[in-house]
Amino acid sequence: MAGKATLSFPTGEKSTISTGLFIDNKFVPALDGKTFGVVNPSTGEEIAQVSEASAKDIDVAVKSARKAFKEVWGEKTPASQRGKILMRLADLVEQNNDELARIESLDNGKPFSISSTFDVPSVAANIRYFAGWADKNHGKTIEVDTQSDFHYTRHEPIGVCGQIIPWNFPLLMFAWKIAPALATGNTVVLKTAEQTPLSALKMCELIAEAGVPPGVLNVVSGFGPVAGAAIASHMDIDKVAFTGSTLVGRNIMKAAASSNLKKVTLELGGKSPTIVCDDADLDNAVSWATCGILMNSGQVCCAGSRLFVQDTIYDKFMEKLQEKFTMIKGMTKDGFAKDSFQGPQVSQLQFDRIMEHIETGKKEGATLRQGGNRHGDKGYFIEPTIFENVPVDAKINREEIFGPVLVVNKWKDEEELIARANDTLYGLAAAVHTTHIRKGIEIAHKLQAGTVWINQHNMLNPQVPFGGFKASGIGRELGEYALANYTNVKAVHLALGRQPPI
Ligand code: NAI
Ligand code: MG
Repeated sequence: MAGKATLSFPTGEKSTISTGLFIDNKFVPALDGKTFGVVNPSTGEEIAQVSEASAKDIDVAVKSARKAFKEVWGEKTPASQRGKILMRLADLVEQNNDELARIESLDNGKPFSISSTFDVPSVAANIRYFAGWADKNHGKTIEVDTQSDFHYTRHEPIGVCGQIIPWNFPLLMFAWKIAPALATGNTVVLKTAEQTPLSALKMCELIAEAGVPPGVLNVVSGFGPVAGAAIASHMDIDKVAFTGSTLVGRNIMKAAASSNLKKVTLELGGKSPTIVCDDADLDNAVSWATCGILMNSGQVCCAGSRLFVQDTIYDKFMEKLQEKFTMIKGMTKDGFAKDSFQGPQVSQLQFDRIMEHIETGKKEGATLRQGGNRHGDKGYFIEPTIFENVPVDAKINREEIFGPVLVVNKWKDEEELIARANDTLYGLAAAVHTTHIRKGIEIAHKLQAGTVWINQHNMLNPQVPFGGFKASGIGRELGEYALANYTNVKAVHLALGRQPPI
């Protein structure tokens, strides 16, 4: 029997969840019986033990997914029926909004006020959006020069998809991955991040309740180098989709290449520029730039981590920005505190990595304008931090920090600004703040990024594609574009009276 855990929230509520691996719509223990501890990052205390998948468990999950693909899902369930099941899942997410949000906040640390109004509602919206596509992802008929043939394409499911997700938006990344995969008829083996497995386990109960047939969606908790690596190199997984670090993204591609050449989509990091022009609405730009870096404790792949402020407004802008950061420092607390905006970093390891970046920044000669310290005396909180006068090749100007640390630059000449903004390995996102709409659009078109915001930041919609240029990734999630990453295009050529060549 797989285990259960009772979670106690600071608000007094409790939730009991199953902690096994979810295979064939049943919670089962790991074959070798292993479990690992899950920590509340606001306190550093263990809150549950969950099953830990090994490569053997991945094999079992893949067999279940393969069987379901052949026998019940894929082309066996009418597309409209797949859509209907996913719609039901979206409804169940809405009905369980607050419980899911509480689990997410306890496990990840993010404010409940945000998980309950943004993360979980976005999960429902994403599932519902892709549910709508289930019976609308058609091929085309294609006219060619000769009249004696008939040509059309079909968008067929790829098969069994392995999906590996991170810990920064555990439930939302779960939804981004499973919704397009299931809507298009694939079956799934998904591995959650070892730091944040709990909300997905609650989701598994809803998946069974929604009527997703056994084997269609298998969810395992486990570690990257074991369970994740087993997915990436599995010979019977047809596609792998990954969100996480660039380093691991490269390993996934290598594993796919040296196993069965499974299809790969990657959503990796960024070092996204935020550009403020002198004609921007300053208060708005300050607020968006702050949200751009401090939202989710800076643990956002598209965070605006490099800020470029035009020289003529620099001093005024920085004064206002500093005030805003001071305000957020006062709202840096346990996610269940009413006025929490910035929670802890997700783990001791992430906390240490960020503090190391801050120390390196100081040694590299950048000016620490604000913050830079641990916040509070327990958990993994870090003060909102600003660096100025940062050397171009400083590590903090080049590498993704993934924490509440902003690097600020001054700019004068627009051409040079664009070159500096694009001078990065990455190309996930960018933001421009200006009231001159034509200028905003001109700059947006010159930036090498998969997403450009004008006068906002971090706002995403299920309908609009998201993904990276350059080392930020391969493929697109969200929107109609995501469907192409979960379907094989088959071209059918039908002879209409054409004679054989010999
Ligand atoms: P990570 O890339 O190690 O973890 C992400 C996922 O990949 C987890 O589910 C993990 O178990 C899995 N994984 C790890 N090693 C694997 C392997 N060899 N094969 C298959 N799967 C594997 O990221 P980590 O260490 O948690 O964070 C490090 C940095 O990565 C962060 O500081 C941040 O810069 C970046 N990151 C970016 C994210 C994004 O949204 N693009 C999300 C999480 C991290
Ligand atoms: Mg946790």
